[in-house]
Amino acid sequence: MLQLSTEEQAMLAGELGPGLQKAMEIVVALGRIYGARRLVEVGSVQVAGVSYRNLGEAGLEFLSQWADQGVRVLVPTTLNPAGMDLRAWRELGFSQDFAGRQLAVIEAFERFGVRTTCTCTPYLVGNVPRLGEHVAWAESSAVSYANSVLGARTNREGGPSALAAAITGRTAAYGLHLDENRRATLRVDVRCPVRTSSDFGALGHLVGKAAQNRVPYFVGLGEAQSAALKALGAAMAASGAVALYHIAGVTPEADCPHILAPGCETLVVDDLRPAYAALNSDARKIDLAWFGCPHAGLEEIAEIVRLLGGRRIKAALWITAAREVQEQAEAQGLVAAIESSGGRIVADMCAVVAPMQELGFRTVATPSAKGATYLPSHAGLLVRYGAVERCVEAAVSGVWRD
Ligand code: F3S
Repeated sequence: MLQLSTEEQAMLAGELGPGLQKAMEIVVALGRIYGARRLVEVGSVQVAGVSYRNLGEAGLEFLSQWADQGVRVLVPTTLNPAGMDLRAWRELGFSQDFAGRQLAVIEAFERFGVRTTCTCTPYLVGNVPRLGEHVAWAESSAVSYANSVLGARTNREGGPSALAAAITGRTAAYGLHLDENRRATLRVDVRCPVRTSSDFGALGHLVGKAAQNRVPYFVGLGEAQSAALKALGAAMAASGAVALYHIAGVTPEADCPHILAPGCETLVVDDLRPAYAALNSDARKIDLAWFGCPHAGLEEIAEIVRLLGGRRIKAALWITAAREVQEQAEAQGLVAAIESSGGRIVADMCAVVAPMQELGFRTVATPSAKGATYLPSHAGLLVRYGAVERCVEAAVSGVWRD
């Protein structure tokens, strides 16, 4: 039975206005569906469902009408990527029609008081939850990072439920907010080398498929940098809706006593080739090399600059990143270096939710397993999946070489 505080009851009764009432109705409905006993206050929210391509006219109208009720977010709230770069859309070839509607979506979120960061890596732009902090995030790769790498507590919220959590400052206490659901329920013994970010993505693809909502506990992975952990979590979220994982000796909750649930099954991974095979098409000519899924950090951008070594590219090359990261890259001369080769650091957007075919792209090389999973089904593109080095070479030559 869900217990509400006096203030929460007042919100639900509409005493604080219809916009807040609607938000509390959503939070409470989810709490009842999932058998929560109480609500928890959240430290931050990450809202997804931003691209006009996914929202459509109905989604835009829903947001605008809710914003018209004058309601504002109560806690710091960041926003997922949109379907285009909000400033450079014209140069990149987006249509005026799409841009107008996308900007209207962003304007609606601004009216709620949402920080329109338009990134799936809010933790790179100041939204960094503390260990054990309850948050309500919606973007699957960010949810995985927050839970696993930062040790914060969030379920994967939907678009409206995250916005409702931001407006009420609360979410229902069920799922990964509770200690008992954070224990590992699948032990994964890694017995093959996992070196590059794309190897971590390939591992994540295989484990996500096997895990299907369970909580993996990795043994045998050793050291892993932030970019590798982003790739691993994003891949598992895409292939198996995994929202939390632990790595022995690496992630903050992995060494807690009793982290492994009794009787949990063991999965042995000794070969990543099946994942590379599953994520690759047979495309040869490459239109676009896409990096930054999840959005790139400065080190990842610097690595691409190093690999390009000033060479001109034949295919397009995009690195998607948060606008703040793009600005930092500009200050360090990385934007100029990428552009001198013919590439772009593109802010605010994600290729999976952008109208990529309308921009003339048919084939994409990417080191992101999440991108490789979704681009064919969501954007209608053929994908080549491999290490960053191979994708850079594909951009330079315009061809994928085996
Ligand atoms: Fe981010 Fe889009 Fe990839 S939201 S994780 S760039 S699929």
